[in-house]
Amino acid sequence: TTNHLRHVESMASLPSGAGKISHLNAVILGEALASEENDFVFPSDAFSHQALIPSPHKYLEMYKRSIEDPAGFWSGIASSQFYWKQKWGDQVCSENLDVRKGDIKIEWFKGGITNICYNCLDRNIDAGLADKIALYWESNEPGFDAHLTYSQLLHRVCQLANYLKSIGVRKGDAVIVYLPMLMELPITMLACARIGAVHSVVFAGFSSESLAQRIVDCKPKVVITCNAVRRGPKTIHLKDIVDAALVESAKNGISIDVCLTYENQSALKRESTKWQEGRDVWWEDVVPKYPTTCDVEWVDAEDPLFLLYTSGSTGKPKGVLHTTGGYMVYTATTFKYAFDYKESDVYWCTADCGWITGHSYVTYGPMLNGATVVVYEGAPNYPDSGRCWDIVDKYKVTIFYTAPTLVRSLMRDGDEASCISNLVYTLKSPYVTRYSRKSLRVLGSVGEPINPSAWRWFFNLVGGSRCPISDTWWQTETGGFMITPLPGAWPQKPGSATFPFFGVQPVIVDEKGTEIDGECSGYLCVKGSWPGAFRTLYGDHERYETTYFRPFPGYYFTGDGCSRDKDGYHWLTGRVDDVINVSGHRIGTAEVESALVSHPQCAEAAVVGVEHEVKGQGIYAFVTLVEGVPYSEELRKSLILIVRNQIGAFAAPDKIHWAPGLPKTRSGKIMRRILRKIASRQLDELGDISTLAEPGVVDQLIALADS
Ligand code: WT7
Repeated sequence: TTNHLRHVESMASLPSGAGKISHLNAVILGEALASEENDFVFPSDAFSHQALIPSPHKYLEMYKRSIEDPAGFWSGIASSQFYWKQKWGDQVCSENLDVRKGDIKIEWFKGGITNICYNCLDRNIDAGLADKIALYWESNEPGFDAHLTYSQLLHRVCQLANYLKSIGVRKGDAVIVYLPMLMELPITMLACARIGAVHSVVFAGFSSESLAQRIVDCKPKVVITCNAVRRGPKTIHLKDIVDAALVESAKNGISIDVCLTYENQSALKRESTKWQEGRDVWWEDVVPKYPTTCDVEWVDAEDPLFLLYTSGSTGKPKGVLHTTGGYMVYTATTFKYAFDYKESDVYWCTADCGWITGHSYVTYGPMLNGATVVVYEGAPNYPDSGRCWDIVDKYKVTIFYTAPTLVRSLMRDGDEASCISNLVYTLKSPYVTRYSRKSLRVLGSVGEPINPSAWRWFFNLVGGSRCPISDTWWQTETGGFMITPLPGAWPQKPGSATFPFFGVQPVIVDEKGTEIDGECSGYLCVKGSWPGAFRTLYGDHERYETTYFRPFPGYYFTGDGCSRDKDGYHWLTGRVDDVINVSGHRIGTAEVESALVSHPQCAEAAVVGVEHEVKGQGIYAFVTLVEGVPYSEELRKSLILIVRNQIGAFAAPDKIHWAPGLPKTRSGKIMRRILRKIASRQLDELGDISTLAEPGVVDQLIALADS
């Protein structure tokens, strides 16, 4: 048994319900406000009674089985809840996770033949959900909306699938998707999956250069986009960005024959859209002409489903590859249990499908469960900070899943005095209290650790002290939730992601890679595989092994720090590598640095993350200019602009710090530890600087800190 199993065992022996445990300082949901003094927040008996996993005891029983017999556990779920054209071979899972024993390999359900689009749509329709709402779509502009039932969604998906086939897209071909949150985005993902094509969705906030880089890497048959989108008061001309990306990728030898463009009429009319005859095709002119049925391409469980690029510690983004069968079983199962999903739920995840959260928990996880999903096109604070709760009331949202950065920004908008006491929230956040929010029953958080004060605001005010919060820790690479509360089972601690999901064995290791036990902190790794794990980095299996499996041989290394408390709860402490997390968006410091140094007047750059009140982390850039170039406000702006242009607006540095020189070791390695201290102005904690080649640069940097 694993370490935490023991902790869980002792938790499980506790009676459920806080009232029965006098020695714990506890709160029962719905009966009191969670505050600083209370450690545990218990689900109410009413919630637990109706929950899929109603107690720690039940969790423990299932968890034990999932670890002792993973093949039996997962194949039971896979065969009872999904359609397989043909069952997998003798082995449910075959894996090697130890670099010392050969190439890393993970396979689940190999030989099983299925299709994830079929499982999302056809299977649910056959089970009686044809007329259930699959998607509610809410426009950026209040008052404009649309919806599709499961059978209407299937028709739309089939039409697009048929069109894609007609232009020669075949099983295994890549399709680049650069779309905002329109219904056409999940439609496109599902249509690709239906014909076995591999979608690669690029978040529509990435710049043309980033888009081009991804096009060049995966060489798609077609690029799918729309002409423009409204986000808050702004109109963003996406097609122009795609045009520029296609020019750029052509320079690198990749030319694209078809750019399928959806006319997003509320943002821009087609007459005003720049057009390249012969290459560009209006979605509305072609797709609706195709039949509303389309045969499914049956694929192997280990055939690729999608590629999603994410940031690592070098400048080159990594193409995370997920396959079909394991990902399907894992996203569906995690969605169901972590949100205590019931057929009557209306689910809204504020994430964009351009990130993994939108893949696993806007499109696949919910659709596999036959859920009703809200898709919102616009900005969460438009026209004002009450918009989210307006949408919650309008669609009677029951499960609301979002990111800490959004919670913090809404918290700040409504309420200056939020730190004083919990009651002040209620009195001073009219943007929230103007709306009923009574449909809500489960809340979720993802992307970064949620700080306890944001947790309490979310819990007490938004959820009316009634809704458990599933603080889901996971990654692009893991495909689905790894450490997460199960809302009916666990007493929660604000800010802790609690315990592992079924089948997941988190371990905390020290510098040497030795597992550490009990109350401890260190590097978070995972032992063994789980069905949703990524299988490789596209075109670079070597980098896959080096980044994730070599640092601590025998384990998958997450890149995160983590501590475990006396009760066995997990507390994620953030990245320990050169990755920063800005508003839940993952950015490699090396990517920002390489954008900065591409500026002709920039000689060198070093980027670190600093604490940021709303974004979690902000981007802090030390910049050395070319000899003789003077510092100027104009130059500062153009440096920020070059990052916006090369990566995207979300990666723009918050601070440029002029640096006559950077602190380096004698071998020339930049000492980021020192830069982090200077950036956060912890000047008395600089530590030993005697190993620097030129210790004097530190004083120079400090002198220039606020210039
Ligand atoms: C990194 C993964 C997975 C969806 C969104 C981000 C951080 C994510 C949590 C959480 C603490 C979290 C980690 C992780 N992270 N969720 N609930 N608590 N940290 O996906 O871009 O792949 O980033 O986000 O640092 O490694 P991603």
